[in-house]
Amino acid sequence: MTDIKELLLSRIRDVADYPEPGVMFKDITPLLADPAAFTALTDALAEVTVRHGATKIVGLEARGFILGAPAAVRAGVGFIPVRKAGKLPGATLSQAYDLEYGSAEIEVHAEDLVAGDRVMVIDDVLATGGTAEASLQLIRRAGADVAGVTVLMELAFLAGRQRLESALGGAPLEALITV
Ligand code: PRP
Ligand code: MG
Repeated sequence: MTDIKELLLSRIRDVADYPEPGVMFKDITPLLADPAAFTALTDALAEVTVRHGATKIVGLEARGFILGAPAAVRAGVGFIPVRKAGKLPGATLSQAYDLEYGSAEIEVHAEDLVAGDRVMVIDDVLATGGTAEASLQLIRRAGADVAGVTVLMELAFLAGRQRLESALGGAPLEALITV
């Protein structure tokens, strides 16, 4: 494993049985509290963004905001928040998606994504892929192009990569760490 992967992995804390029994929660707060690790992560996310020619970063509420916003500043591109439903004041595009139990909905300001944009989606964790898939559907419905999806950590056993395949349409999915 490379030095940066080891550094990032060493700052992610496993919390057993949170938020419910049987789930191993990946807590990134130790990483955020370590300036060397957070800087290395921000640099890596910005590098992927620039390498794939993205012109905007979409961050997924809430943890995708924490990672995506500094990466956008570092990469010199705009930051667009995709929020949980009901939080944005302007005209929005909404996308519902299925959860294990029930469903959820995310939104973006319609004016924030337009034809000609190349959008990199950033989030902390790719689990089932439901959240990222819905964000890609929002981006395409807005008429923008998908530059890719980049996550700090992919939980490969939940097969989010397979779920995203069609929505990615050939665009790259990059995970800095895969477990
Ligand atoms: C978590 C995580 C990802 C998403 C991954 O967000 O931050 O956004 O779940 O799961 P999926 O691939 O199965 O969709 P969550 O909404 O639980 O919490 P947050 O608001 O703290 O980011
Ligand atoms: Mg999240």
